[in-house]
Amino acid sequence: MTDTAVSSKISVRDVRRTYQVGREEFVALGGVSLDIDDNEFVTLVGPSGCGKSTLMNILAGLDEPSAGTALVDGVAVRGPGPERGVIFQQYALFPWLTVRQNVEFGLKTARVPKAERRARAEHFIQMVGLDHFADSLPKTLSGGMKQRCAIARAYAVNPSILLMDEPFGALDALTRVKLQEQLLATWSQDRRTVVFITHDVDEAVFLANRVVVMAARPGRIFDVIDVDLPYPRTEEVRFSPEFAALRNRVWQAVYHQDPGQPAGADLTNTP
Ligand SMILES: Nc1ncnc2c1ncn2[C@@H]1O[C@H](COP(=O)(O)OP(=O)(O)OP(=O)(O)O)[C@@H](O)[C@H]1O
Ligand SMILES: [Mg+2]
Repeated sequence: MTDTAVSSKISVRDVRRTYQVGREEFVALGGVSLDIDDNEFVTLVGPSGCGKSTLMNILAGLDEPSAGTALVDGVAVRGPGPERGVIFQQYALFPWLTVRQNVEFGLKTARVPKAERRARAEHFIQMVGLDHFADSLPKTLSGGMKQRCAIARAYAVNPSILLMDEPFGALDALTRVKLQEQLLATWSQDRRTVVFITHDVDEAVFLANRVVVMAARPGRIFDVIDVDLPYPRTEEVRFSPEFAALRNRVWQAVYHQDPGQPAGADLTNTP
């Protein structure tokens, strides 16, 4: 194992993921390499079907590479683990449990004693601003509140890595902006390594230290753009010329990769 692999929090080394589609081999990821530092906030953006979720599922241990390795803290990922919290686009809350019970769920599974469970859940429920809804059931919450609950639940088990697959994709623009700010406020208080998938170029730039732009057929890293903007990311930052310049750069990288072909249009590889 190399030094680089050990010093990165996440290290993706020549990861390939292929699927057999009929007689053809479909290359969802064609040799992706990426290093992510501890406490870094990385956003993954790219056309539909370029392999973002595939890469995240491999990091989460929910899928395996066909070749190559994904390392966390220098150790190859072999299945899900408590140091990696996963948040999906669809609110994966237990509908029969209250906000508090949902947040406590992972702690209960980990056999954390009741008093500590309560205290930890309380802390993270407050952090995401759901204190008045701790005893509410998910069906009585808005989409944004459900996602805040999912974030509190992921944080409560104290993962060092948060893997988020389009967590704000289903929300309206206003809620989305609020949740971006809230997520950053939470992250600033309590740093974690975050890998965050989005389709939204503004969101990708606003949140990240680094934007990784992927391309399809085969799924690969197209460009990596450093976001050298200060935190906290205020409205002033959002409307600054520096932000606009970065957004334009990411936009070009995402939307002008392959002008001849609509991205994600077919299932088979074009040679
Ligand atoms: N089980 C499977 N069998 C065959 N192909 C698959 C399978 N799962 C995923 N794929 C293909 O792999 C490619 C990458 O899928 P993935 O879900 O990672 O894309 P994505 O970048 O997350 O897209 P989106 O932005 O739409 O969520 C897609 O073209 C998809 O059709
Ligand atoms: Mg996806």
